[in-house]
Amino acid sequence: MNAWTVLLGVAWLLIFGEKVLGSRILIYSPTLSHSHVSFNGKLADLLTKAGHEVVLLLADIDPLVATNGSRHATVMRVSMDLDRTRASSTMWTNPGPFEDSRILTRNITLKLWKVGKIMIDACEALANNDELLRTLRQYKFDIGMLEQYDSCAFGLLQALNIETRVWLSATAVWRMQPFALGVEYPSSFVPELFAPFSDEMSFFDRLINFGVGQVTQLIYLYHSQATETEIFRRVKGRNFPDLLALSAGSQLSLINSMSVLDFPAPQSSNMLYSGGFTIDKNRSYLTEEWKSIADNSKKGLVLMSFGAIAKTIDMPDEMQSIIFRVFARFPDYTFVVKFENISTTERVASNVYLTSWIPQVELMHHHKYRALIAQAGWSSILEALHNGSPMVLMPLFADHFKNAKVVEKRKVGIIIDKLRFTMEKFSDALRAVLEDPAYTINAKRYSKMLHDTPMPVEQLLVHQVGYAERHNRDIGRHALVGLRLRFDQYRLADLFAMLLFSGLALGFLLS
Ligand SMILES: *[C@@H]1O[C@H](CO)[C@@H](O)[C@H](O)[C@H]1NC(C)=O
Ligand SMILES: *[C@@H]1O[C@H](CO)[C@@H](O)[C@H](O)[C@H]1NC(C)=O
Ligand SMILES: *[C@@H]1O[C@H](CO)[C@@H](O)[C@H](O)[C@H]1NC(C)=O
Ligand SMILES: *[C@@H]1O[C@H](CO)[C@@H](O)[C@H](O)[C@H]1NC(C)=O
Repeated sequence: MNAWTVLLGVAWLLIFGEKVLGSRILIYSPTLSHSHVSFNGKLADLLTKAGHEVVLLLADIDPLVATNGSRHATVMRVSMDLDRTRASSTMWTNPGPFEDSRILTRNITLKLWKVGKIMIDACEALANNDELLRTLRQYKFDIGMLEQYDSCAFGLLQALNIETRVWLSATAVWRMQPFALGVEYPSSFVPELFAPFSDEMSFFDRLINFGVGQVTQLIYLYHSQATETEIFRRVKGRNFPDLLALSAGSQLSLINSMSVLDFPAPQSSNMLYSGGFTIDKNRSYLTEEWKSIADNSKKGLVLMSFGAIAKTIDMPDEMQSIIFRVFARFPDYTFVVKFENISTTERVASNVYLTSWIPQVELMHHHKYRALIAQAGWSSILEALHNGSPMVLMPLFADHFKNAKVVEKRKVGIIIDKLRFTMEKFSDALRAVLEDPAYTINAKRYSKMLHDTPMPVEQLLVHQVGYAERHNRDIGRHALVGLRLRFDQYRLADLFAMLLFSGLALGFLLS
């Protein structure tokens, strides 16, 4: 080898080194809500830091969600030709967060259907966006990633010839993801993501759980997924594969949950429980103002936030008034409340502060921090348990009800019902969580378990993404074959029918 070759080699490595070592990853992130965007952005940042070249494609489902969630990835935002307020008004009104949102009611079922229709319309725009496809094709992506609730982007990955598909769940798992991978979630003991049950259900609970599973599955399979497959076949040709088959071929599912925390459910070997990677370990410091608020609280600090969608200012007056009157019953605790229409932090009672933004992770690490009052969003629950602190949860919509059941069953928090919200109930829940040491002790036990992993979860995730790419053609061979069986084969109904028939025939012959 002569000197020129060596020099050229070094120059090449310096210029393209990172690209040679890392992979090119496309993360498809519909702007469904701030929490989904934030999840995808954090994943993009983690993979970028691990040396990959990551493009975060924000599909504008809800143009009002303005954040991109990422600090390090290349961000692309693309219009889906949807009306500006269509997604937000469909998802977050009628019923709104503080109204009755029991599943299987007419309005909630209609809402699921309409959200499916938004996904279909967005898919139409995506499949026909030739300019976007041309731009993306130039990146020659190795890996494509998308979330569990809509499978349109599987068509995008196919159109871009991306071989390695990683399927994400920003929440706990919804049945359609394991279903596609050949894992059935029995309605008898696996609570649906959108149902308010734990893993121990009464007869009627199981009836509703089964109903929720069937309704959501039918809407997903035959409303959105089938239509989206049709869209790609119309645009790209009749031989375009079925989106269900494409999703079934995912090499890896990254689940934002932990086995020790969630209700046990059947799994397959390509589902990785990687919950916790979204929690910001590199915390910045508290400002002097926040530090002094926390330091000066007598018995401890309690945070209250219902997330980006359910604003405290939109809360019914009656509920707001109950909350503040209950806070007055706990004068030794300091309450910090997320309140959207103020610009600074305002002290409104001797022990209550309102603020438009709570530095949640940082305050949770203060030694005076005691508990969280929240809507049971999955990322807040993970943050609180990582920190080893208990919760009072008021589930509002979507997966909140099931998430809260996890917390209740692990005895790390108490659920309060938004439709039966009284002074006594809220006050009792708060007192129990603050003054019965069992909740804090349990939360600390869970925190220890969540931290007790063979390697940091970030490292595990990055490794498994690489593994999925390196062995992408082999992993499929280990997939469960359940999905490919006929209904009667899967249930052994063919076998029992045969036995029954033989028995009858034998009986007939002998008689
Ligand atoms: C993404 O968000 C970050 C911080 O919120 C911001 O600094 C950055 O400019 C945004 N990137 C794009 C491409 O909008
Ligand atoms: C369902 O939605 C309709 C409007 O489409 C509304 O008038 C009605 O009050 C809602 N029903 C319930 C039970 O929320
Ligand atoms: C932590 O954050 C600071 C600034 O916010 C940054 O300078 C530093 O590199 C970060 N450390 C890690 C390990 O990411
Ligand atoms: C914020 O909203 C509350 C309740 O809706 C109202 O009483 C208050 O005046 C508002 N404050 C500002 C600064 O708009």
